[in-house]
Amino acid sequence: MSPWILLVGCGTHHQSALHPAGPAAAEITWLTWVLIGGLSLVFLVTMALAAAALSRRRTDEAELGTGFVAVAGIVVPSIVLFGILFLALRTTLAVGPREGAVTIAIVGHQYWWDVRYPGGVIDANHLVLPAGVPVRLELRSADVIHSFWIPNLHGKMDMIPERTHTFWVQADAPGIWRGVCAEFCGTQHAKMAFTVHAVRADAFQDWLSSRVSAQHSTDHPGAAVFVDRGCAACHAVRGLSDAQLGPDLTHLASRPTLGAGALPNTPPDLHRWVRDPQRVKPGNLMPPAHLPDREMALLLDWLGGLR
Ligand code: CUA
Repeated sequence: MSPWILLVGCGTHHQSALHPAGPAAAEITWLTWVLIGGLSLVFLVTMALAAAALSRRRTDEAELGTGFVAVAGIVVPSIVLFGILFLALRTTLAVGPREGAVTIAIVGHQYWWDVRYPGGVIDANHLVLPAGVPVRLELRSADVIHSFWIPNLHGKMDMIPERTHTFWVQADAPGIWRGVCAEFCGTQHAKMAFTVHAVRADAFQDWLSSRVSAQHSTDHPGAAVFVDRGCAACHAVRGLSDAQLGPDLTHLASRPTLGAGALPNTPPDLHRWVRDPQRVKPGNLMPPAHLPDREMALLLDWLGGLR
């Protein structure tokens, strides 16, 4: 079981746009509160004027001249709307492109995330970042339009087939958050999540180096089941298979979740997932595995060691 799983769900704000944990999200949250506060004020003033108008007697009508209408109907709305435009442009500039300390490529699939780090390290549904520096993201889609969103770190960015959108995120400090797909992309759109794990910058380099050099035993009998029973036709495991249809499983055991956030990554849940993924996440591409108990046990034992 991944030790990180213990941290998922810790804290009450691990998926919240109102609890920014990075500079871009802080700008967006600030604008959100300014708009909520300012527009609430506009609403209250408008309602007060409406109440005053309703309570007047008809004979008072002539008292409101065109001057009042011009100011309340043209001047004030213009000031409010241009003010909102100015604030929005200011925030847009503040969260605009930045150079990244590291580049990570992410491809959206129905319904999971392929994550590629420098050095040929491939993972899925788990994004590890160095904290305190901007991280450059290259966002693509393998099929339909998805939208990449880590509410605590930045706004949304579409992932569009045949295009690459560059984006950046930055976490102020180490922490764990939940990222989601923010564009309806099919039946399991709601179960297209990922875990974001920001670590100290030096710990990130150590983590990446350990991933670059990770070697898995391919003479485990579970690896033979993986190949013989067809898992390797869709899933890559470094040194054994390089299939690209499903998530790369080279580091499966260190992911916090299974099925892109559908289940926690525990041995019973891994069994549940492999045995019948359609029951957990109907409509995903993975078929049920009808394996004899002994083969299933060998396969799960081997998968559970892929760190
Ligand atoms: Cu991918 Cu919604």
